[in-house]
Amino acid sequence: MTYLNGKTILLGVTGGIAVYKSVELLRLLTKAGANVHVVMTKAATEFVTPLTFQTLSCNPVHTELFNLIQEQEIGHISLADRAEIVLIAPATANIIGKIAGGIADDLLTTTIMATKAPVLIAPAMNVNMYQNPIYKENEARLRELGYHFVDAETGSLACGWEGNGRLAKPERIFDRASALLAPSDLKGETILITAGPTREELDPVRYISNHSSGKMGYALAKTARDRGARVILVSGPTCLEPPLGIELINVESACQMRDAVFSMVESCTVIIKAAAVADYRPALRSNEKIKKRGKNLTLELEKNPDILTELGQMKKPPLLIGFAAETNDLQTNATAKLTAKNLDMIVANDINQEGAGFNTSTNIARLLYRNGTVEPLELMSKTRLADIILDRAGALLKDKR
Ligand code: PMT
Repeated sequence: MTYLNGKTILLGVTGGIAVYKSVELLRLLTKAGANVHVVMTKAATEFVTPLTFQTLSCNPVHTELFNLIQEQEIGHISLADRAEIVLIAPATANIIGKIAGGIADDLLTTTIMATKAPVLIAPAMNVNMYQNPIYKENEARLRELGYHFVDAETGSLACGWEGNGRLAKPERIFDRASALLAPSDLKGETILITAGPTREELDPVRYISNHSSGKMGYALAKTARDRGARVILVSGPTCLEPPLGIELINVESACQMRDAVFSMVESCTVIIKAAAVADYRPALRSNEKIKKRGKNLTLELEKNPDILTELGQMKKPPLLIGFAAETNDLQTNATAKLTAKNLDMIVANDINQEGAGFNTSTNIARLLYRNGTVEPLELMSKTRLADIILDRAGALLKDKR
């Protein structure tokens, strides 16, 4: 889910080799439906021309404080007032120093000083500049004053050094901006989400698992975080980047997932179990790699704990939301799980449908409630579905209290 659709954004671009990445950021913002106005410092225009930003934003690019035509048409105060968020990417040590020192000597610094919108700064500079105590002090001062930062990343820098100082990936800046504009309706809630598959080891090199990518659970975690909740993500092995600003507990097996969930359950108001947990594990795990011997190999499996069932049996469980991935009789099977596990809601997905279920970026779900209500949903991104699930969780919490 992005909260940038229809928003007026001011993108400040300052002079650094990373300017080309803010072109990509602009593309992401406009694709999400934002109305972006770009302000470039003089130094930024040395790296990429204003025409590039103008073409992609479909808005005039502003570069000068005392440009009579631009001032008449829009003016820096109007820019500052209209912006719902101000992004500065890349932000040099110079601009950060100026903002921290209260200097307003060009269009960008003047606009930043005049705005009441949240300001998100994405620094990019040489590693030694980034470590410089003067820079650190400026950043700390701005953080204290309520400015937001997307930390620079580590890697090879344009100046030839290796280290910290690379502009964060445009997707990260985009995500953070979206999070800053999200409603904080889940503030005060602690939401535990399980994601991904479990792995049940047979020996040191082999395991039993499934096709869950973790995308559904991670989308829920990010969206819940954006909406103000404290998020605990208990994740099986996935290839996904851990979302920032959440508490991540990595697990492998169903038993480890169970222990992780129960170690946190007391502080949770909601638990959403999007993980695909293995129902069985090998009865014996060999400490050595199992050798190829006869024609057949028979495995004995034993039952794993059913985490949701155990949660549903608690005296006062948190709000419980489960998932059901079904290949047949979707409604009947999902309803049986809703009842047997004592859930408040279950998200049923028919994994035979194109675009639904495992390892896709989309899903087609049906939400089933304790009172028998069924809410069918169309094909949508897992991020959008996460937002709807959290809307419903919020409503169920209200009813419950
Ligand atoms: O990760 P993705 O690639 O994005 O795919 C998402 C998904 C398809 C994995 C997800 O949307 C989903 O449907 N997850 C549940 C998968 C499933 O097979 O559930 P189940 O029918 O086996 O279990 C029902 C519920 O009980 C689930 O919430 C499950 O987490 C929970 N469970 C199951 C077994 C077990 N031992 N303990 C449990 O807690």
